[in-house]
Amino acid sequence: MRGPLIVSLDVWNREGLFKIIDQFPTDEGMTVKIGMELFYGEGPTIVKELLNKGFKIFLDLKLQDIPNTVKMGMMQIGRMGVTYTTVHALGGSEMIAAAKEGLELGSEEAGVPTPKLLAVTELTSITEDALENEQNCKLDMVDQVVSLAKLAKRSGADGVITSPLEVSSLKEQVGNDFLYVTPGIRPANFPKDDQSRTATPKQAAEYGSSALVVGRPIIRAEDPVAAYHKMLEEWNYAN
Ligand code: C5P
Repeated sequence: MRGPLIVSLDVWNREGLFKIIDQFPTDEGMTVKIGMELFYGEGPTIVKELLNKGFKIFLDLKLQDIPNTVKMGMMQIGRMGVTYTTVHALGGSEMIAAAKEGLELGSEEAGVPTPKLLAVTELTSITEDALENEQNCKLDMVDQVVSLAKLAKRSGADGVITSPLEVSSLKEQVGNDFLYVTPGIRPANFPKDDQSRTATPKQAAEYGSSALVVGRPIIRAEDPVAAYHKMLEEWNYAN
């Protein structure tokens, strides 16, 4: 089955959040993404409130630290009852494994399902030049992303965040038994904003994305619920 279309709630505070979220039906098992700006501003209670309303949560905090610190942080996240969360693959194999262990420990303790651990490979803001001259990486971007995705997989991550345009080559090299969650989704004829390599929900389905992350085309739409349902339909019913 095709995974969810995750609505990225990139807002600053609870007022902004509920202005959008209160328009959505709560009985559809919809998944929403909370990032660091909202989480740092409002704290874990915002996660609880959304869970209590019936939403599934992707808590996107992109952890990277020494393995023990990440493990403890992930124990806290594991207890919350979220469905997905993130680490930087650049933190290394031990850190990714520790993140997974923390999620398992926290979720078991709280009696909730273990969140799926998604790894960020190279940030899309990193250029080939920065990769070579700041990170001193000998690989080109594609090989580096594949290498980090493989590292994440063998360290216990459940998937990666990636551009929809990279999914098919990643799938070939990393395998089908891994999640490829893709932002950079735009309806046809919609402005790209600051995203440069975009795909429509239908194209993302054709490339093999496991789940979509969509922000501005939904949360800044005149009718966010209608925009969501339109994109969801395209995603669910693409061949
Ligand atoms: O508004 P838009 O649809 O571009 O939002 C996409 C969401 O996905 C944002 O929360 C953005 O931070 C996130 N994201 C991304 N590209 C990545 C990783 C995350 O756009 N490589």
